[in-house]
Amino acid sequence: MCGIVGYIGRRNSLSILMEGLKRLEYRGYDSAGVAVINDSKDINFFKKAGKVKEIEEHFDPDALSGTTGIGHTRWATHGAPNDTNAHPHFDMGKNIAIVHNGIIENYKSLKRKLESAGFSFSTETDTEVLANLIEFHFRNTNDFEKAVRIALTDVEGTYGIAILNKKEPDKIIIARMGSPLMLGLGKDETIISSDAAAIINHTKNVIYLEDGEMAVIKRDSFQIKTISDEDIFREVQKIEFDLTEIEKSGFEHFMLKEICEQPDSIQNTYRGRINFETGVVKLGGLENVSDKLFNAKRIIITGCGTAWHAGLVGEYMLEHYCRIPAEVEYASEFRYRNPIINRDDVVILISQSGETADTRAAMKEAQRLGATTIGIVNVVGSTIAREVDAGTYIHAGPEIGVASTKAFTSQLMSLALITLMIANNKGTLSEKQLIEIASEVKVLPEKMKHIIDKRNDYKFIAEEFKDAKNFLYLGRGFNFPVALEGALKLKEISYIHAEGYPAAEMKHGPIALIDENMPVVFIAPKDSTYDKIISNIEEIKARKGKIITIANEDDMEISNYSDYVLRVPASVPLFAPILNSIPLQFLSYYIAAARNCNVDQPRNLAKSVTVE
Ligand code: AGP
Ligand code: GLU
Repeated sequence: MCGIVGYIGRRNSLSILMEGLKRLEYRGYDSAGVAVINDSKDINFFKKAGKVKEIEEHFDPDALSGTTGIGHTRWATHGAPNDTNAHPHFDMGKNIAIVHNGIIENYKSLKRKLESAGFSFSTETDTEVLANLIEFHFRNTNDFEKAVRIALTDVEGTYGIAILNKKEPDKIIIARMGSPLMLGLGKDETIISSDAAAIINHTKNVIYLEDGEMAVIKRDSFQIKTISDEDIFREVQKIEFDLTEIEKSGFEHFMLKEICEQPDSIQNTYRGRINFETGVVKLGGLENVSDKLFNAKRIIITGCGTAWHAGLVGEYMLEHYCRIPAEVEYASEFRYRNPIINRDDVVILISQSGETADTRAAMKEAQRLGATTIGIVNVVGSTIAREVDAGTYIHAGPEIGVASTKAFTSQLMSLALITLMIANNKGTLSEKQLIEIASEVKVLPEKMKHIIDKRNDYKFIAEEFKDAKNFLYLGRGFNFPVALEGALKLKEISYIHAEGYPAAEMKHGPIALIDENMPVVFIAPKDSTYDKIISNIEEIKARKGKIITIANEDDMEISNYSDYVLRVPASVPLFAPILNSIPLQFLSYYIAAARNCNVDQPRNLAKSVTVE
């Protein structure tokens, strides 16, 4: 959930740690801190609640000099987000310093045992238990590596950790179980991080740690082993993106930049994968499971939040174009529901980060039950991407804004490509239909750009509705999930309560909420559901609700029913959700900006939720 960074080398570590923390802050931002070993082999530290930038103003850099250090931005799970609970955490004698991402599930019983052995605690976190536990075993073994190893065999839960020990000051030990960690290999230096964003400025050569592994990192060498002490050899991999991709490039917020990037990110999703002459799609990453996919009796799609919404659109796509039964399930429910899954089922896991704990657990459950698992993932080399049977990267590029935008539209494109691939194999779409759809793919970036170019129009509407207390989003068919996603975007970043519903369902309850203060956003493209949607609009209008519609450019009739119309170019049902999402992203962005909300780092949220 949080961000971890570490440095060991010949340079002063502080600025590298702080720069890393700023790049990781989108992952968690309750509090932050650093610990550094100085020349006299003492551990100095500073930690505080608040944003990394604010923290920086409070410490004296000279007091934190040294060439070995660790840092952390927190997303609290155990204990309030205050100064005391900020990481790093220490054993009671301050020999060990640790930063931790994850949850130690058995921390209470470990704490009791340590207390009876004379250890005391000063924070409410689960992490502090780990620091004391390592110190406890260090006292018995006088061997840092061994102490960490034994401590980790006592621990249940998830962790990505980086640890310093002032008695063995020339090393950092890291370990992973369920939370990402990687080593960036520079010249005479190693940068440790939970995310490539903190490494890219220094080196592109990285090694990903796997679950159940730890590494001892010294200035000029490192060794990876399993927690049970077997040697591991791991290939060095290259980070695939550039620094410019994780910077704001003149935009006020990452979210705005990422919304505007979508004509490019969508092209990166389909580039080289679709033949525009024939409409035939080839997804290299799925070749080894193509038989399973083409013969699947059922496809189950799972994910969380926005990824789950993408999955709902995927369900419409697969059933409509491929005639394969499809189901969508929240990853967090799937794993605990004792689902009926068999070997002929294919389970698609959708995740931007590839690290979401619930989605990962759903993947494991599906694999345990013998299904074929396919990942639709953005972050290259992430856990889900590595652990699925097969997968397709969406290639949307780094998404920093906590509210997912470009990853959503690229997830929709990936699902559309899978749909076309299956439909071609099964013959549920004719050659002519495939070619027609492919030609629509080609013009999609231009249509997206057209919507983005008119973004200033949204500011006016945002001003008008910025003080609304509630919003309703309504859509039908392929665009019902778009309504859910529109409502989620608004809630996340502006803190206005919003709900999405299938437009006709509104009559069965939500209509009671309608009065002259209720803005209702209708997604109303000219498709087979258009006339029904118009009737739904009438029903709201009759009760004095304020109507905002997302409608096609040539649809003049809609103005008669709407207070405001946001226009998008028309497309085929397979791609209309991609276009219709963009005005909703802008609407929520400009409303949140007008309310002076912290758009990129909304309260209580984190970019990837690596705890249950
Ligand atoms: C999206 O705006 C949210 N911040 C959130 O719902 C997100 O989509 C969800 O946590 C899933 O994340 P993932 O795609 O990285 O697995
Ligand atoms: N469980 C730890 C805490 O609450 C780590 C949380 C995190 O991953 O940031 O401090």
